Amino acid sequence: MAKTKQDTPEGCASLDKDFRELISAKQGNEDEKEDCHWCQLRSFTTHKAAPITVVNEIDGQTLPQNFRFINGVVLGAGVSAADLSFRSGCTCGQDEDCQYSGCLCLADLDQDEASDDSADDYSEFDTAAAAAPLLARKKAYAYHIHGSKAGLLRSKLYTSKLPLYECHQGCACSSDCPNRVVERGRTVPLQIFRTQDRGWGVRTQESIKKGQFVDRYLGEVITSAEADRRRAASVVYRRKDVYLFALDKFTDPRSLDGRLKGPPLEVDGEFMSGPTRFINHSCDPNLRIFARVGDHADKHIHDLALFAIKDIQKGEELTFDYVDGASGDSEDLDGKMEDMTKCLCGSSKCRRFLW
Ligand SMILES: C[S@@+](CC[C@H](N)C(=O)[O-])C[C@H]1O[C@@H](n2cnc3c(N)ncnc32)[C@H](O)[C@@H]1O
Ligand SMILES: [Zn+2]
Ligand SMILES: [Zn+2]
Ligand SMILES: [Zn+2]
Ligand SMILES: [Zn+2]
Repeated sequence: MAKTKQDTPEGCASLDKDFRELISAKQGNEDEKEDCHWCQLRSFTTHKAAPITVVNEIDGQTLPQNFRFINGVVLGAGVSAADLSFRSGCTCGQDEDCQYSGCLCLADLDQDEASDDSADDYSEFDTAAAAAPLLARKKAYAYHIHGSKAGLLRSKLYTSKLPLYECHQGCACSSDCPNRVVERGRTVPLQIFRTQDRGWGVRTQESIKKGQFVDRYLGEVITSAEADRRRAASVVYRRKDVYLFALDKFTDPRSLDGRLKGPPLEVDGEFMSGPTRFINHSCDPNLRIFARVGDHADKHIHDLALFAIKDIQKGEELTFDYVDGASGDSEDLDGKMEDMTKCLCGSSKCRRFLW
């Protein structure tokens, strides 16, 4: 496939500006480096192994100039991570222990819901006797550990609304712990491309297995009041909603933790985000968004992690359901339809409108 100018620094904006950026990058001018999409992407630690490219073979549009690529969430005014004194992690002696119910990181899981040993996990063992010691321990974490599905999300979770609890920097285990899938980050090279009819979209440059982690949805983490203010300031109110995701997995008005009583914080990916901000909606998607928690003291700022729920071929467009199947019945929408955006996902399960 022919690459367009946006794959290179020369394609970032006007040639004059890029020329200045190239020179200033050599001179180490950090401000100007931040100004260039390609320079932002190139600065990611994942850039060599799993680069993000941008192509437009449809029209002359470039990525929004007021958009900046980031590789971690940015905490907005009035939002903070937990104080050091509240942070904790597991004390597991071996990485392998972090898959079982004794691991403190998995302590908040409903064990019956989460436990799901499948024969597939033990296929590498020659005899049932060899697998028995492992089967005797209650497996509790979200991923397969053994066999061809190692590191992939358990099938039981594809349709569940359970959060994923992972190990993190505060844990005694190593960075190779099997329960650090999201923490280790994206491994798949992605391409932002111009679609025929839905603006930008994202496709994968490698095949992705069902259950594989793809990337996090990043953005500014803002208070609910700030999110309301941004919605009100947006010219088209509902358009703003597609970039805002509420961090409400643990919101409970009865919570003893004031940060979880609600209303929840929200992530705004419109102006700062990763490639996932360009993923389009489908009513029959190949990705699904999950709440992921590292340190339990940071439940109020939990991650939003996108996993494949189907096998995806190299070159296929990535999609997720923006409302996770929760949209109203279009039969109830008579009279409001002219204000709504038609869904162009093209699937046979299409619900006709985005909002
Ligand atoms: C989060 S953005 C996705 C990236 C977007 N296509 C862009 O160019 O920036 C959501 C916007 O993409 C478009 N979009 C996404 N999925 C769509 C779909 N299934 N049908 C029609 N438009 C869609 C709508 O304009 C929507 O407001
Ligand atoms: Zn552990
Ligand atoms: Zn661990
Ligand atoms: Zn841990
Ligand atoms: Zn649709």
